[in-house]
Amino acid sequence: MKKVLLFASGAGSNVENIIQYFKNNPEISIVGIFTNNPKAKVLEIAEKHHVPTLIFNKEELSGGFVLGKIMKLQPDLIVLAGFLWKFPEHIIAEYPNRIINIHPALLPKYGGKGMYGMKVHQAVLENNEKETGITIHYVNEHYDEGEFIFQKKVVIDDCETPNEIVARVQKLEHIHFPLVIEKILTNP
Ligand code: GAR
Repeated sequence: MKKVLLFASGAGSNVENIIQYFKNNPEISIVGIFTNNPKAKVLEIAEKHHVPTLIFNKEELSGGFVLGKIMKLQPDLIVLAGFLWKFPEHIIAEYPNRIINIHPALLPKYGGKGMYGMKVHQAVLENNEKETGITIHYVNEHYDEGEFIFQKKVVIDDCETPNEIVARVQKLEHIHFPLVIEKILTNP
């Protein structure tokens, strides 16, 4: 059995989609959802699907507390699904090439500190981009700079609001993120 640990900070549509996708998979299980945000909608999703959760603060993440909780779960893969804090180096060092992130743009464009969620889509719209997309990548010590695993583009030249862009990007995320996770875990 391969174990996946999810980190998220917000609505959790990717988390819910990943849980649904692996629900009947006897080889892959979601062992926890860790969040920095006690008000995150993702906690309701976790409860609904009976997945254990952990809420932590900055000190608990940068100190040893969160790492200790991760180690207890022994995950094969850590998945950042809308996790908005920088991931600490001491955890990355413990899980080399076993932490992945999804970013809602075609990195290296629209990445880095402060570039997350809606801010990305607003910047993409302001720059009149004809296309955007998603990037799934390994996590290293720099924001959004780890080795790419997967990218997919989508045309947005007819989009007039950031919400229209979100809808297209989310569709890509929901199709491809579980498939990429499955592929990593089945062809390590
Ligand atoms: C997703 O679009 C994800 O790509 C993005 O946050 C959203 C979370 O949505 N992540 C980042 O911007 C990371 N820099 P969700 O909570 O509905 O899954």
